Amino acid sequence: MKINPNPKGQILITMNQNYTILIISVISFLIILWIAKNRKFETTESVSDAYDTWTSDRILEKLWGEHIHLGYYHDQSNLGDFREAKATFVHELVKWGGLDKLPRGSRVLDVGCGIGGSSRILAEHYGFNVIGITISAEQVKRARELTDSKLTCTFQQMDAMNLQFGDGEFDGIWSVEAGPHMPDKQRYADEMLRVLRPGGYLAVADWNSRDLTQKAPNLIEKMVLKQLLEQWAHPSFSSINSFQKNLSISSFVGSKVETDDWTKETLPSWWESIFEGTRRPKVFLSLGLSSLFKSFREIPTILLMNWAFGNGLMQFGVFRCRG
Ligand SMILES: C[S@@+](CC[C@H](N)C(=O)[O-])C[C@H]1O[C@@H](n2cnc3c(N)ncnc32)[C@H](O)[C@@H]1O
Repeated sequence: MKINPNPKGQILITMNQNYTILIISVISFLIILWIAKNRKFETTESVSDAYDTWTSDRILEKLWGEHIHLGYYHDQSNLGDFREAKATFVHELVKWGGLDKLPRGSRVLDVGCGIGGSSRILAEHYGFNVIGITISAEQVKRARELTDSKLTCTFQQMDAMNLQFGDGEFDGIWSVEAGPHMPDKQRYADEMLRVLRPGGYLAVADWNSRDLTQKAPNLIEKMVLKQLLEQWAHPSFSSINSFQKNLSISSFVGSKVETDDWTKETLPSWWESIFEGTRRPKVFLSLGLSSLFKSFREIPTILLMNWAFGNGLMQFGVFRCRG
């Protein structure tokens, strides 16, 4: 029996195949472009360049507000207000780190201060005298613009690897999500503890990989870690154990170093940071179409971060000790 071919059906199948090939080609091209155009850490300048751009284009600030860190979610009930969750994070870390025991007027150094979100809360709510330092000149400029002159809070451009302060000058040290950018984690720990006075309080929050010496990453995890490092100018991630050790062996440490894992409390932040784009579409109108493309560029890294933190490859470590 002769089967009559259905020419209309064949045309449809061929068109579908062509569309599929086109879509796969476009996605492959975008992935190659995303990998090739990464912001790999070369020197500390790669970090300052990245933050200068992220600050001057205003996209991060208009979408996520004045804090460049994750939010803290007690449960899922406060989902929907990323900015409030970030402020909550600051108060939780102050409490956990013991900085709330310091009297008003205490001197606190914010290491890797961004555009000063935490520094302003520390000055306004706790009455501290805060100096924020960052490697990015644009962030210093913006932090100063955003800070009311009545606040006891100032900003300087400075490398955390080489703090321009004397030993024991500060009553408190605060550093949030700056550690992954530090090329020498021991020096980062030593410098912070050096400028902390004996008996002062240190509170650090960091993106950590799990202890890879205990459980080596598989091939997929290695590929993910590579992108997490190279897309956002990170030379390396410490594990919670290794940074605890960096602090513990510092000659300036005055107490046992305690840690906790806040992965569960901060995990919703990754999706929340993407949803902020849909909650604030006017940002893209005010900043122009290029801001939309620039924001899309960050989505794969945010999704990989969400996957890595959600699957135990990354952990949100917090560290506290006394000077
Ligand atoms: C993810 S942002 C966190 C900003 C801020 N702590 C916050 O929570 O909003 C990392 C910060 O670390 C700063 N940073 C990175 N490397 C640095 C270095 N070597 N010295 C000083 N700051 C540095 C960046 O400029 C940026 O302000």
